[in-house]
Amino acid sequence: MKTYYAERAEYYDAVYDMPERALDLAWLRRYLPQRLAGRKVLEVACGTGYWTQYLAPQAQRYLAIDAVAEPLALARQRQGVDKVEFRQADAYALPAEAAGFDAAFAGLWFSHVPKQRRDDFLAGLHGCLQTGAEVVFIDNSEMQCREHPVVEYDEAGNGYQMRPLRDGSRHRVLKNFPSETELRILLGRHGVSDMVFLRREHFWLLQYRLPDRH
Ligand SMILES: C[S@@+](CC[C@H](N)C(=O)[O-])C[C@H]1O[C@@H](n2cnc3c(N)ncnc32)[C@H](O)[C@@H]1O
Repeated sequence: MKTYYAERAEYYDAVYDMPERALDLAWLRRYLPQRLAGRKVLEVACGTGYWTQYLAPQAQRYLAIDAVAEPLALARQRQGVDKVEFRQADAYALPAEAAGFDAAFAGLWFSHVPKQRRDDFLAGLHGCLQTGAEVVFIDNSEMQCREHPVVEYDEAGNGYQMRPLRDGSRHRVLKNFPSETELRILLGRHGVSDMVFLRREHFWLLQYRLPDRH
């Protein structure tokens, strides 16, 4: 997946130019910054920084990480990211400097986390955050399968899409579409009993606060 995102970085933002997504994106661009305003935000898998540019200006502090150099280089060139600290780092092994944040955001990332790694990912993320931290994930709804159908499932139930790049290469990319119930059960294991799950036509949004014991 890292090779795929490295090679796609230059034209990754085309996903934000799809006219059918415009209404949902406009709503998210209004909603997300006010939700995380004034907080110390850790963004996981920031990619080319599309969301970083809207969230960072209103945040108190902002650390954005991604495992791949190419999208990170583009993120650094965005307007409005002057105060953002960018780091090349793995979402499953967050660096020591990711500790002590009171908010976390991940856009279009959770769908790429294999089902069998979800607990590890959340445990690692929550371990970096303060009690009461605000966590927000957004991701694609199943509408995205119109563009890239899921063509196979593995034994753990992870779906895979075959995605073409502009150079003609094709890449097998893990992509899941979790249900609200799946997310409730998962978060329940991490001590989170209260969450909000919103479904828009092209995206879903999950938000919750980290309880005392997580
Ligand atoms: C679908 S893109 C999302 C980018 C951005 N968050 C957005 O919403 O536009 C997924 C991102 O995950 C990054 N990535 C892949 N594996 C990763 C890992 N193990 N740790 C951190 N980032 C990773 C890729 O480089 C890519 O930028």
